[in-house]
Amino acid sequence: MTDSVKHFLDISATDDAELDAILQSAHAMKQARAGQPQGFVEPGRPLENRILAMIFEKPSTRTRVSFDVAMRQMGGQSLLLTGSDLQLGRGETIADTARVLSRFVDAIMIRTFEAEKLAELAEYATVPVINGLTDLTHPCQVMADIMTLQEKKGDVSKLKIAWSGDSNNVTNSWMHAAAHFGFELRIASPEPLQPAGDMLDWCRANSANVIVTEDPDAAADGADCVMADVWLSIHEQGEGTKHNLLKPYQVDETLMSKAKEDAVFMHCLPAHRGEEVTAGVIDGPQSIVFDETENRLHVQKAILAWCLDS
Ligand code: CP
Ligand code: NVA
Repeated sequence: MTDSVKHFLDISATDDAELDAILQSAHAMKQARAGQPQGFVEPGRPLENRILAMIFEKPSTRTRVSFDVAMRQMGGQSLLLTGSDLQLGRGETIADTARVLSRFVDAIMIRTFEAEKLAELAEYATVPVINGLTDLTHPCQVMADIMTLQEKKGDVSKLKIAWSGDSNNVTNSWMHAAAHFGFELRIASPEPLQPAGDMLDWCRANSANVIVTEDPDAAADGADCVMADVWLSIHEQGEGTKHNLLKPYQVDETLMSKAKEDAVFMHCLPAHRGEEVTAGVIDGPQSIVFDETENRLHVQKAILAWCLDS
């Protein structure tokens, strides 16, 4: 890896000042284009002549559309590459894929399985690499979520944020965010699905205010925000045992009533109504899930501009 290349691999791998700068830039870009049609190109076309390669080894709606639209709104272009279309799907190495793509494009966004693949891509690429989700983390999502909470609640460092359900890739990025943004993160999961020991060690070493419990009511008690995610992430198989374990962690109206009166409900989507959340909650007045979705666009534009120094 060239030291000067600015990858966005994880919240934990990005300097505190840079995370703040990315969010400030995202808010400014969102405000500047208020009322404009989606096809409106940013004045100055900051990413003109720049090309983003987007590699998807897993399905996606929000990530692929928001990165593509982000490039277009900044005057650049994107290429959508699925794992099976690439020689990567026939055994070409990640290292060679990184070196080849670096000769053609200005940045690479990848959604893949093992976090090691992302790390290897970044090691061999000579252009910025962005994490569009791995089995381990989903930093672009949580940056958009932090932006959304800043809009709705102001200073996030004062917030109590509750997670109810499976501890997964999104939870891990929330744990990284807790260390930087200073909020209290309460994770309610059944014991077998609680965060991995190395993640908890990381939280302790980085003074992240993270509480893990088996009790969803305790997590939601007086919270400013209650969050859920799917019970079965894309890389997982077989719903039986996990669904049985997670039933008591569904975010329903009763659980929401334990939180503050003005608490918001968040979910990165896609959602399964009747599983991790009731339709009444996700479609109700406390839900801000589509604001989170929109902010993927704004925050990723800021991440792209930061990676490409534009
Ligand atoms: N939240 C999110 O990353 O959605 P997609 O899987 O549709 O990209
Ligand atoms: N935890 C989910 C997030 C989807 C955006 C998954 O990995 O499938």
